[in-house]
Amino acid sequence: MIQSLRGMNDILSEDYERFEYFIATASTIAKRYGFHYIETPLLEETALFKRSVGESSDIVGKEMYQFIDKGENDVCLRPEGTAGVVRAFIQHKLDKKGGIHRFYYHGPMFRYERPQKGRLREFHQFGIESFGVASVYEDALMIMMVSDILTALGIGYRLKLNSLGDQHCMPAYREKLVSFIDSCGDAICGDCERRKLTNPIRVLDCKNEHCQSLYLNAPKLIDHLCEGCQSDFETLKSILDQHAIAYEIDTNLVRGLDYYSKTAFEFVSDNIGSQSAIAGGGRYDRLIEFLDGKPTPAVGFALGIERLMELIVMPESVREGYYFGAMDETAIKPILLAAEKARRNQKAVVEYKPRKLQDHLKGADRINARYCAIIGENELNQNSIWVKDLVEKNEKLIPLNEFFA
Ligand code: HAM
Repeated sequence: MIQSLRGMNDILSEDYERFEYFIATASTIAKRYGFHYIETPLLEETALFKRSVGESSDIVGKEMYQFIDKGENDVCLRPEGTAGVVRAFIQHKLDKKGGIHRFYYHGPMFRYERPQKGRLREFHQFGIESFGVASVYEDALMIMMVSDILTALGIGYRLKLNSLGDQHCMPAYREKLVSFIDSCGDAICGDCERRKLTNPIRVLDCKNEHCQSLYLNAPKLIDHLCEGCQSDFETLKSILDQHAIAYEIDTNLVRGLDYYSKTAFEFVSDNIGSQSAIAGGGRYDRLIEFLDGKPTPAVGFALGIERLMELIVMPESVREGYYFGAMDETAIKPILLAAEKARRNQKAVVEYKPRKLQDHLKGADRINARYCAIIGENELNQNSIWVKDLVEKNEKLIPLNEFFA
């Protein structure tokens, strides 16, 4: 029997309800903040991700679904959404147009990771990208939006915050950090040896416990920020304080993608096991020019939908619409007509197979219908339809001409 690929899941019925509820809730909030939907292809040129997410990242280094297509193009299933949105932003010349452009999107992403609970090879993100606002107030807006989405879904969180500095303060810090790493000699792991050469700040995120204990004394970027980054970081904290959004400063939060500068943040949940990051984002002011666009400040985030699924508190389900059932073969045609009429303005689900009343009532429960409408021999003789209101718990025999009126 053919099975789905490892780390790639089907989303069925009850889960899909949650999934849809999540998308509807997050989209409503994004629209309230003035964001517009954008759809970009799942497949892009590999070079796009190499130049944005970065060659030193695990995502590009180890996890891409990359292949040569029939036209000899080097292509890749998108591992994340930001790069494609930035490409579209530049391709459609919105960078040249100037002004503010705010987008939201959702869809599947692909990373060839080792699957485990909360870590899939095909997973879904809901993302936001904002272009054209340099002010740190936009960074705060991102965090407020994630907080609003999680709160609307009944999900508790912890917010981790860091500043990754910019081109003014990062180079000097990087040198300090490299000297520190050198002072650790052979004690660091092989991955960190490699990171030291490609993107040294990545060592701070190393999962190796021995490395972590060594890096406790590493210089912290937050102590080496330039005046601009420092003052933006202070402003960001004060806005969050004002909005009663609690945060923890995590100086080791470096994020797994290379394009960030200044604000970086992650929302984590303590209720879903080791893959606890439910959303991540930050500012990426240099990315548009790295991809040959006009320099444009930008900031965004993405939520991992699968990780949120089990945390979502669904609203109490409300019975709605009709279930239609026939008691015998001769009632099928009139029941179909009745359903068609009802479906013009509400849910109307038909069970064609003649069944006993008890079974039809169970069917109505199963689909959470408000009304169970039945036609049997008795109703046919009287040219009517029997309707039970499963909320008010009353039942009526309604003449068909009235029902169709
Ligand atoms: P990211 O932190 O790589 O950021 O991913 C965002 C979220 O996607 C994570 O917090 C996590 O919930 C979910 N996620 C990541 N990998 C997996 C996986 N293998 N299985 C299940 N869920 C996963 C980005 O992708 C950036 N593009 C976010 C961004 C947008 N930054 C600025 N704008």
